[in-house]
Amino acid sequence: MVRRIGELHQSWDAQRFGLRSDMLVPHRQWLSERAVDPRSVFVVAEADAVENRPLVAYLVGSVEPEIPIYWQPETAWIHDLWVDEAYRHEGVGRQMTMLAIERFTRLGIAQIRLHTAAANAEARALFSSCGFRPCVVEMMTMTNAAPSDGARR
Ligand SMILES: CC(C)(COP(=O)(O)OP(=O)(O)OC[C@H]1O[C@@H](n2cnc3c(N)ncnc32)[C@H](O)[C@@H]1OP(=O)(O)O)[C@@H](O)C(=O)NCCC(=O)NCCS
Repeated sequence: MVRRIGELHQSWDAQRFGLRSDMLVPHRQWLSERAVDPRSVFVVAEADAVENRPLVAYLVGSVEPEIPIYWQPETAWIHDLWVDEAYRHEGVGRQMTMLAIERFTRLGIAQIRLHTAAANAEARALFSSCGFRPCVVEMMTMTNAAPSDGARR
């Protein structure tokens, strides 16, 4: 699911969402940390909790510090939400988003943010139906600088 959400974004905009070939290695580490971090939200949905327990969806979010000019000392971010194609349009995405809002509220977080790709009208419809509104348009350009060591992998 992590690879598929990454590849979907890369297919929309390879400059903005270009993936490292070893992306699953650092992401596994980062997800493992989220799973035990009491101030992160990591929700999964299973199709059948009794038998095969196939995973059909996941959402991951964390609390991040804000730069000190804003009244919010920290904000929550929803980083990833993926629902398996066979389970879409059944309300799973909305249920997981509302659960994340509920958990961040219980953590005392007053503001939740997320990014959506410009091409991702479906996700914007989902998040709008959960109470989110557009507030920033990210702009990007590429320079002639050689990629750093980290970006060259
Ligand atoms: C976006 C995504 C998470 C939606 O999951 P889902 O389980 O199908 O969403 P839900 O069934 O809960 O839909 C909730 C609402 O979102 C909107 N929505 C969802 N899919 C939509 C679509 N294809 N077109 C228009 N609106 C859509 C609707 O408002 C819907 O409400 P409704 O069913 O009452 O009309 C899923 O399509 C997905 O995994 N996409 C690929 C990954 C991605 O884009 N992730 C989000 C960005 S990080």
